[in-house]
Amino acid sequence: MPGVADRVIVVTGAGGGLGREYAMLLAREGALVVVNDLGGARDGSGAGHSMADAVVQEIRDAGGTAIANYDSVATEEGAAALIKTAVDEFGTVHGVVNNAGILRDGSFAKMTTENWESVQRVHLWGGYFVTRAAWPYFKEQNHGRVVMATSTSGLFGNFGQANYGAAKLGLVGLINTLAIEGRKNDILTNAVAPLAATRMTADIAPQEMLDQLPPAHVAGVVGYLMSDECTDTATVVVAGGGSVRRVALFQNKGAHFATPPSIDEVAAQWDLITDMSGAELGLNPLG
Ligand SMILES: NC(=O)c1ccc[n+]([C@@H]2O[C@H](COP(=O)([O-])OP(=O)(O)OC[C@H]3O[C@@H](n4cnc5c(N)ncnc54)[C@H](O)[C@@H]3O)[C@@H](O)[C@H]2O)c1
Repeated sequence: MPGVADRVIVVTGAGGGLGREYAMLLAREGALVVVNDLGGARDGSGAGHSMADAVVQEIRDAGGTAIANYDSVATEEGAAALIKTAVDEFGTVHGVVNNAGILRDGSFAKMTTENWESVQRVHLWGGYFVTRAAWPYFKEQNHGRVVMATSTSGLFGNFGQANYGAAKLGLVGLINTLAIEGRKNDILTNAVAPLAATRMTADIAPQEMLDQLPPAHVAGVVGYLMSDECTDTATVVVAGGGSVRRVALFQNKGAHFATPPSIDEVAAQWDLITDMSGAELGLNPLG
C-alpha cells in the first residue's frame, strides 16, 4: 500500500489543533500513530491526559490505530519515553512530526530569559530531542521521515515573537543538516509553516482570516512529506487556507573584491551586493 500505511508515526502535540488533524489523517491513511500531548495550556503551563486520550479515542472510533503518550518533548527523558512508547507498542518508529508548541509572546524589550528559554525548550530542543531519539531506528531500517513545524514568524519575522521565531527558524537550520546526513539512509527531513485557526492563533489573527484557515488544509501536506512517495528533503513549505508554497533561500551573484575591501569600497558596491535579480537557490559553498 502506498503512502503512510503501516508506518509508525509519532505526532507530538497531537491532542488538539494541527497535530490532531495530522494524527487523524495519518491514521485514516493506515499509519500506526502515537498521539503525544503534554495536555497543558497555550503557554506551556499545566499537564493532563485528556487531550491525547480524546484524539486516540476519535482515531479508534474511526477504525484507526493509535496509542497515547503524555510525555513532554522538552526534556531528553520525555522524548526517549515517547519513542519508547512507539517501539514498545508498534515495534519501531518510521516518522516523527515535531508539532508540539507553546507561545510566550512579548516585545524583545520585555523578553524574559524564562520566556526565551521555555519556548526554545519546547520547539527547538523538543524537535532535537524527539528526532535524536528516533534517529537510530531510522538509520537501522534505512527509512525515516521528519517534519518540523516551522513558522512564517521565523521565516519572515513577527512583532513580539523573537523567542518563537528564533526557535522556529532554528528547526529549519536543523533539517538542512539532517537532510545531508540522512539522505543515504532514506531519511528525509522537511518543514511546514502552517497557517491555521487553532487555540494558538485564536487571538492573533482577525476572525475573518481564521475562518479561511481550517487546520485540515495542512494535514495532507504533512501526510505527503511523511509518505514513502516523498523524495524531497530540506524543503520548506508554507501551507494553509488552500495554498501550499515553497520558501527557500536564494543567493545572488553579489560583488567580488580582489583585495580586502575598505568600508567605502563595500559601501560603493552595496547596491550590487543586495540586488537579488538573477539570484539562484543557495547552496553551501563549504558543503
Ligand atoms: N496555527 C498556526 O497558524 C501556526 C502557525 C505557525 C506555526 N504553528 C506551529 O504548529 C504547531 C501546532 O500548533 P497549533 O496551532 O495546532 O497550536 P496548539 O496549541 O493547538 O497545539 C500545540 C500542542 O502542543 C502541545 N504541547 C505543548 N507543549 C508540549 C510539550 N512540551 N510536549 C508535548 N506536547 C506539548 C499542546 O498541549 C498543544 O496540544 C506548533 O508548533 C506551532 O508553533 C502553528
